[in-house]
Amino acid sequence: AKKAVLGPLVGAVDQGTSSTRFLVFNSKTAELLSHHQVEIKQEFPREGWVEQDPMEILQSVYECIEKTCEKLGQLNIDISNIKAIGVSNQRETTVVWDKLTGEPLYNAVVWLDLRTQSTVEILSKRIPGNNNFVKSKTGLPLSTYFSAVKLRWLLDNVTKVQKAVKEDRALFGTIDSWLIWSLTGGANGGVHCTDVTNASRTMLFNIHSLEWDKDLCEFFDIPMKILPNVRSSSEIYGLMKISHSLKAGALEGVPISGCLGDQSAALVGQMCFQDGQAKNTYGTGCFLLCNTGRKCVFSDHGLLTTVAYKLGRDKPVYYALEGSVAIAGAVIRWLRDNLGIIKTSEEIEKLAKEVGTSYGCYFVPAFSGLYAPYWEPSARGIICGLTQFTNKCHVAFAALEAVCFQTREILDAMNRDCGIPLSHLQVDGGMTNNKILMQLQADILYIPVVKPSMPETTALGAAMAAGAAEGVGVWSLEPEDLSAVTMERFEPQINAEESEIRYSTWKKAVMKSMGWVT
Ligand code: G3P
Repeated sequence: AKKAVLGPLVGAVDQGTSSTRFLVFNSKTAELLSHHQVEIKQEFPREGWVEQDPMEILQSVYECIEKTCEKLGQLNIDISNIKAIGVSNQRETTVVWDKLTGEPLYNAVVWLDLRTQSTVEILSKRIPGNNNFVKSKTGLPLSTYFSAVKLRWLLDNVTKVQKAVKEDRALFGTIDSWLIWSLTGGANGGVHCTDVTNASRTMLFNIHSLEWDKDLCEFFDIPMKILPNVRSSSEIYGLMKISHSLKAGALEGVPISGCLGDQSAALVGQMCFQDGQAKNTYGTGCFLLCNTGRKCVFSDHGLLTTVAYKLGRDKPVYYALEGSVAIAGAVIRWLRDNLGIIKTSEEIEKLAKEVGTSYGCYFVPAFSGLYAPYWEPSARGIICGLTQFTNKCHVAFAALEAVCFQTREILDAMNRDCGIPLSHLQVDGGMTNNKILMQLQADILYIPVVKPSMPETTALGAAMAAGAAEGVGVWSLEPEDLSAVTMERFEPQINAEESEIRYSTWKKAVMKSMGWVT
């Protein structure tokens, strides 16, 4: 059959905590032409530890690229139309590998991992000058969440890492660096880089000067020679070099020209380019980012200041305020894998729909402590308000409500920091396919929730950055290039008073979850 003729296509790797995806978009309309998704294992070797296998992550990327290319072939779409590839990724997750063999020297220590809690406590007491030392340079609180302390743990505890650093063979990176290095040739000339958005999550990066910070590296005792080069979010980093498999090999030579941490990528994908525009992405966790333009705004209400994007070497940097919730989709996976009350994540909607209420049951999924706005590592998950009447459907409903209440807490903090309340919330991510969740979210926020027809906004943002890069130039970043994306709106349906009562009971439950670990 004759191959269909299309405009330039752009591919995007979206490597999240729960799954990896490769998606291919038409750069003229943002239409998603084909994609493939593979779930990623998480290992919990000890209580509070979360690890992933960097090799499995890399293999999943190859598999997704191969399968997507196969599907494009079945649609008669010529993969030589793919002109660029973007990468977006779970942020903070820390990998150290050997640059001569390409071998990871330990599992990836995932952003949710709590093993560094004691390191954080010790370091907190040593902060030089005033307590603002880390926050003023990085926009972040000193927390287990960010890469610097994970890297410190690897340097202190893994002999292979210590040896490789001594022998000048070790490279550090977040998942973007690991993937770009591997996809551009690995031990045979791979490019060791990261972008400003990912760098801003390491706690080693100065978000004002946009460079690795010498004082921070000294404070965390990190050798600067193992850090990647920091680049903008949209420029050609290197060319694909993966000849080990026929289909993926077909993308050989295609530039990798977009790189953004997944939450920044979603901000770009939602076209939140103006000061005050915000989006909330529901993935493993849930992250609300509000563009604050070219100025760094520091929060008084538990939010982070982070780099939003820098779309080109000579383009200005934009910042965002971020509310990070550790557990959103992860609670559904927990109900599936740990309690077995559902077989697939999609079943949660059916269960919740059967009852349409939590019947007074509240579920605080503080599995990794509580992130914003509390930053309380001592919190642990609780399910409360149970009676003999409570069944698994109510628990399922409470889990969905928990995601919405956590978002409400972030939105309240954001409104207080910004002064101008958000009039609606733009949302995206896999969970937004769940209509009950979206309606609940509108009810609990008491503002409309607006979702794009195509929820893979993270990948779209990475593709846009890749397509817009100098030397690629197939995406203009204008709204007309998103003509394939339509919007769905959910209006609040309960009254404000009812919404407030539910929210204040949630807050009571949150208080109960705190101080569990001493
Ligand atoms: O900061 C962690 C975040 O980037 C993870 O995103 O999509 O895996 O929940 P996600």
